[in-house]
Amino acid sequence: MSIEGKVALVTGGSGGLGKTHCLSLARAGCKIAITGRSQMGKAEEVAGEIRSMGRQAMPLAMNVADIDDVQAGIKKVESGLGPVDILVNNAAYGIVRGVTIAKMSNKDWETDLATNLTGPFNTIKCCLPGMMERGWGRIINISSIAGTMGGAGQCSYAATKAGLIGLTKTAALEGARKGVTANAIVLGVFDGGSWHQIAPEFQERIIRRIAMRRTGTPQELSNVVVFLASEESSYITGEAIEVSGGASLFTF
Ligand SMILES: NC(=O)c1ccc[n+]([C@@H]2O[C@H](COP(=O)([O-])OP(=O)(O)OC[C@H]3O[C@@H](n4cnc5c(N)ncnc54)[C@H](OP(=O)(O)O)[C@@H]3O)[C@@H](O)[C@H]2O)c1
Repeated sequence: MSIEGKVALVTGGSGGLGKTHCLSLARAGCKIAITGRSQMGKAEEVAGEIRSMGRQAMPLAMNVADIDDVQAGIKKVESGLGPVDILVNNAAYGIVRGVTIAKMSNKDWETDLATNLTGPFNTIKCCLPGMMERGWGRIINISSIAGTMGGAGQCSYAATKAGLIGLTKTAALEGARKGVTANAIVLGVFDGGSWHQIAPEFQERIIRRIAMRRTGTPQELSNVVVFLASEESSYITGEAIEVSGGASLFTF
């Protein structure tokens, strides 16, 4: 894939799946900014692994929900690594709240929206104009089948992941004639990150309704991230690409 020397910013790159995206983009030749919010030790570890490959890496504390923090963080990336060419909006508050709409507190709703939807809005707002000016950019938004199918006990999460698809399509329209593509990846379930917070009996029930009867590996997901980040995906924009082992197929 042709992405040698590009600068990639992966939000939540310190997390389970984000780490694999960072390492895969680095193997493909990118310089990587790895953001986390609280667990900066993990971001440092990912940066160390990337540097040992001979690539540049910058761990960065950046709360995506806070526009001032995002503006300051992106400035640091620009001066440390260069302007952002590839933006992977991966950070999310993915906890399964497990409550009905009637029982969902407004505070939790606002928290989820701030990270999962306002977060990508903030980063796109800061990165898209520069990408358009330079005539090249890739925006990859990590959505979920909860956004396309709904999610029991996940009203805020599902709403944010659906909203992210609308944001993706709008960014795609704005960037289409300036060399910038924007796509969403609609994830099924992957053996990494927040998957491990789910009780084993629920994991079994979830796996039974996936056509392939297994979770995806983080690498199977990152392969798609790297493709969408590359020159080779240049004619794909505004898509919501499901990577789920057939989780939305009718299986029994
Ligand atoms: N795992 C799955 O099966 C699955 C399925 C569908 C969709 N997804 C999506 O895949 C993405 C990654 O999920 P994951 O399972 O790897 O989650 P994870 O392990 O919980 O990682 C989430 C990452 O997001 C960061 N983050 C959370 N809130 C943030 C904020 N306000 N500002 C900046 N960073 C913030 C966390 O940083 P700190 O730890 O420092 O707070 C962490 O690095 C998410 O978008 C999730 O919705 C995952």
